[in-house]
Order: sequence, then C-alpha cells, then structure tokens
Amino acid sequence: MKGVILAGGLGSRLRPLTEITNKHLLPIYDKPMIYYPIQALVNAGIDDILIVTGGNNAGDFLRLLGNGAEFGLKHVNYTYQTGEGGIADALKLAEHFAGDDKIVVILGDNIIEKNIAHAVRAFDEQESGAKILLKEVHDPERFGVASLDGDKVTKIVEKPKQPESNLAVIGIYMYDSRVFEIARTLKPSERGELEITDVNNAYIERGELTYDVLDGWWTDAGTFESLFRASELVRNGGANLAD
Ligand code: G1P
Repeated sequence: MKGVILAGGLGSRLRPLTEITNKHLLPIYDKPMIYYPIQALVNAGIDDILIVTGGNNAGDFLRLLGNGAEFGLKHVNYTYQTGEGGIADALKLAEHFAGDDKIVVILGDNIIEKNIAHAVRAFDEQESGAKILLKEVHDPERFGVASLDGDKVTKIVEKPKQPESNLAVIGIYMYDSRVFEIARTLKPSERGELEITDVNNAYIERGELTYDVLDGWWTDAGTFESLFRASELVRNGGANLAD
C-alpha cells in the first residue's frame, strides 16, 4: 500500500500566517505540521509516500524533508498542485504514483493521537473499494458528516447546517485504484472545489465503503482555533503514539 499526503492549498483560513509559507510548514507545538501525517503513515507500515504540495513555498518541503531520513525513509516523492481546486483535485495528481496499488490518503493538517495500523491492515484485506475513519465530535458542522445504518454508511454530507449525527469523517481515506476514475467524474461544489465527500459518496453508491471509528483524539489544524488546539493536544500527550 502507498501513502499520499495532501499538503497543497492556499491555507486561506489561516491568513496572514500563510501569506509567506505553506500551512503544512507551520508549527504544531515542537514540529512542522507535515511531520505528523508522515509519522502516521510510517507508523502504519507505509514507506512509499507522495507529498502533494502547492503554493509559493513548495521548495521548502524538499529543504525540510529531503529523502525522509528523519522518518527512516529512503525516498520521498513530491508533486505540485496549481491553485486551490480542492482535496479531490489534489488527489488526481497521485494517479501516476499510485498505479494499480491501493492508497492511504491523509490530509496534511490532520493529526492523530494514536495510530491507524489496524485500519490499514483491515483495508489491505478488503478486496476492493474504500475505507473511511470516523470520530465523534462536538462540532460536526465543520466536517463531512456520516449517517450510519448498522454497520453501513448510508451517506456523507459536507459541512451540513443540521448534521444528522456527530460522526465526522476524518481526513484519512483508503482507496483502491478506481478512485481516479471517480475523481474524473466530479463537478465543483458550491465552494468551487472538487470534494472528497463526493468521492466517498460514489463508493457508498457502489456498496463498497467500509468504516472504522478512530481510537484516541483527532484534530485538523486549518483554522486558528484548531491550530492552537492541535499544539495543546500534542504538548499535553504527544501524537502518533502506539496503542
Ligand atoms: C475536509 C473535508 C471534510 C473532512 C475534513 C477533515 O474539510 O472536506 O469532509 O471532514 O477535511 O479535516 P476542509 O478542511 O476542506 O474544510
């Protein structure tokens, strides 16, 4: 299985912090944000990783990470997203890298307390389709929100005004190689982006989306509040811990 970290976008919700650097290079407590998703993939046994970056400071990722020696990697792959077309648009850039392999996609601003090794192993054994990770939150309207019927996800709504559940779809997704076919069929949403939620709903329609509930805390870091909270969570207990 291969890993894809989406670290592009313009970070507009964090201006002026992102005026002169990429959001994923900002600090979360004692490390640059991008360190956390890399470590999450490495802890799940994934060592073939593509970083999709963008914006004005893409070269800084190479200066910071090089070939990933700090994470025990031999090599890191990089590609560049022009503009801010959304998560599913950034994902399209991973098609060549992924080939026929399954991929674990992680948003560069998502940080987890524990690890995803168990879910990744389960997806490895899943014949085809996709797997998402859910987490109960107190502010579901900020996220993609899943509705469940027993062990099935029946639908996901992106940032619903009246959420049907408090189960957020976190920014870690597992896909088979048909994800790229699906991404090509998407139309921009009201916010002008190709939404990852539409990709996941396409897998629901095919009856091929499974889910796990994430153990331990999870946060994104794309707003001032969540960026601050992420640093607090990491300082108070660390991230990417063993079970
Ligand atoms: C994105 C996704 C959303 C998901 C969230 C997780 O939101 O669109 O479905 O719940 O990441 O961090 P965005 O950060 O683009 O608002």
